[in-house]
Amino acid sequence: MGQARLQSAGSERRVVATIRGRAASDGAGVKLTRIIGQPGLPDLDPFLMLDEFGSDRGADYIAGFPDHPHRGFETVTYMLAGRMRHGDNQGNVGLLRPGSVQWMTAGRGIIHSEMPEQEDGLMQGFQLWVNLPAKDKMVKPRYQDIDPENIPVVERADGVTVKVLVGSFDGVTGPVTNVATDPLYLDITLPAGRTAIVPVEAEHNAFAYVFEGQARIGAEAQMVERGQLAVLSLGESAAFEGGPAGGRLILVAGRPLREPVAKYGPFVMNTPEEIRQAIADYQAGRFV
Ligand code: CO
Repeated sequence: MGQARLQSAGSERRVVATIRGRAASDGAGVKLTRIIGQPGLPDLDPFLMLDEFGSDRGADYIAGFPDHPHRGFETVTYMLAGRMRHGDNQGNVGLLRPGSVQWMTAGRGIIHSEMPEQEDGLMQGFQLWVNLPAKDKMVKPRYQDIDPENIPVVERADGVTVKVLVGSFDGVTGPVTNVATDPLYLDITLPAGRTAIVPVEAEHNAFAYVFEGQARIGAEAQMVERGQLAVLSLGESAAFEGGPAGGRLILVAGRPLREPVAKYGPFVMNTPEEIRQAIADYQAGRFV
C-alpha cells in the first residue's frame, strides 16, 4: 500500500483486535453467528450487536423471527441473499430482497416479525444494532427501506467496488439519512492486491468484518481472514487491500454515545428504571 500509506501516516487507523463470532440461535431458532454482543466483544459504542446469518439449509432459518419488540435503538438488516418478509404492529410491511437494506429506528417501540420468504436456498446477510442517544430513545418509529437498485456503487477501473449504504465514499452518499450516530456503512469488494483508502470520521468507532476471502487492513496491513472482525483504532482513514484471492468486507463506523447502557433483551435504554418501564409498557400493550 506504499504511497497511500505514507500520505496518511499518523492518522491511519490500525487493527487493535481481531475477533471471531460465536455460533448462536435467535428468534424461533435461526442459526447465526454473533460477532458483536458476545463475550469476546460485548459492544463497540454505538454498536450493540452484529449478527451474520448465512445458510443454504432451510432448517437453519425457516422458523424466522416471529413477533418481538424493540425499544431504544435501531436495527439494520443488510440482505446479501434470500428474502425476508417484514411486518409490524403498526401496519408496516416490506420485503427484504438480496442487496436491500432496512434501517429501522425502533425508538419508543415496535413489535415486528422478520420471516423468511423461502423454504430453502441461500439466506445470507447481517443484522446490526445501533444505539440511540438518550434524547432519541423515545422518538416515533421510522423505517428506511432501501431497494438494492437505490444503493449507489463506486466501481473503480481496478475492480475495487464499494456499495455505500450510509455515509459517503468518493463523493457518493448512501440513501440512508438522518441517523443520530452519523454512521458509515460500506460493502467493499477488493480484488487481490487492490487497495482502498477510506476516509472515516476521526473520532468515530469503526470495525471491519471480512465475509469473503481475506484482506490486509490498517496501517500495519494486518491480514484478516473471512469470519474475523477487526476493531480499528481512531484515525482519519482506514486502508484495505485484497488478500491473495481477493476479499469482501463491511466497514462500519459511528459516533460513540458515551452514555450509560441498560440492556434487557430487545430493550436498550440508559437506566434500569427505563428498562422496567419498557417491560411494563410492552406487557400493557402500549407499543402502538
Ligand atoms: Co427485530
